[in-house]
Amino acid sequence: MNKTIHTILALETSCDETSAAVVRAGRCVLSSVIASQAQLHRLYGGVVPEIASRMHVEALVPVYEQALQRGGVTMGDIDAVAVTNGPGLAGALLTGLSFAKALAYAAGKPLVCVHHIDAHISACYLGNEALTPPFLALVVSGGHTLLVHAQAYGRYTVLGTTVDDAAGEAFDKTARVIGLGYPGGVELDRLAEQGDPARYAFPRALMREDTLDFSFSGLKTAVMQQVQREGCANRADLAASLREAIVDVLVHKTQAAMHASQMDTLAVCGGVAANSALRARMRALCERRGWRLFIPELPYCTDNAAMVGAAAYYQAQRGEFADLSVNAYPSLPL
Ligand code: KG4
Ligand code: ZN
Repeated sequence: MNKTIHTILALETSCDETSAAVVRAGRCVLSSVIASQAQLHRLYGGVVPEIASRMHVEALVPVYEQALQRGGVTMGDIDAVAVTNGPGLAGALLTGLSFAKALAYAAGKPLVCVHHIDAHISACYLGNEALTPPFLALVVSGGHTLLVHAQAYGRYTVLGTTVDDAAGEAFDKTARVIGLGYPGGVELDRLAEQGDPARYAFPRALMREDTLDFSFSGLKTAVMQQVQREGCANRADLAASLREAIVDVLVHKTQAAMHASQMDTLAVCGGVAANSALRARMRALCERRGWRLFIPELPYCTDNAAMVGAAAYYQAQRGEFADLSVNAYPSLPL
């Protein structure tokens, strides 16, 4: 065990959040600063990569300074600098990586490069001493939908993934069809609270098949056809029925994966783990089955640097550091 790495300054710029955090021993968040660009990208209905990169460049220094200040530390207290280097938007990743390299070099600190999915899974460790591998993780974000067996810290086997859209993408695309703004997931979740989830029978793909893979691309077509027939007058019912369809599939496949892997501990993470219906259904499922459930607090579901600090801590314990020639990888396998 590498006892010398204790306090980590972490950075995250893989998509449209510029974030910096100070994390102690992989579990304790001393500070977490997140500057979201969502307002800007909303004008275009989705993330514009070029704008994302430019905004990261502007936000990185103030966000980093705030993280140190709020954490009550200086660079002298930091043992390593951590950063996401893939997967994500190439330009966006490069801004954070270049900043992290410069910082590590100038301050003479080791550099740890973290995989974005490892970071999302590690978000479940934050503020939670009780979670240790092995466990099963459902990772549901805007870019990924994965069922993963976490054998050890940072050691994963993918059991199932999406064959087309990610769960968050399904939320965002269908939200747009019913006239909600970007990012649609959270708005759709809010609107669904007032609707009837049984009003429309939207498709639940691959439910009966013997696979842990997902498919969500049919949902967008189904909701488009429904809107063509009836318009958007029953938006709350549309939102509630859509959310129910997505959550049904996620819960069903997760349950199957828990049985197949004979696990009794489940971690649910990624932006879609902020969904109120998914959180409630997973809680009910785990209570019924006697499984332990870990879901990050809301700020650590969507992209943030604290989760990068958690993953980096365990990576540093394994002695996995990067040198300054390291690159960013937009599509980095787990
Ligand atoms: O993890 P994340 O911040 O970025 C990626 O790594 O992709 O996830 C963002 C995704 C978006 O698709 C967003 O719509 C979705 O998470 N999301 C939600 C909710 N909050 C965020 N989806 C459903 N319900 C929510 N409450
Ligand atoms: Zn993410």
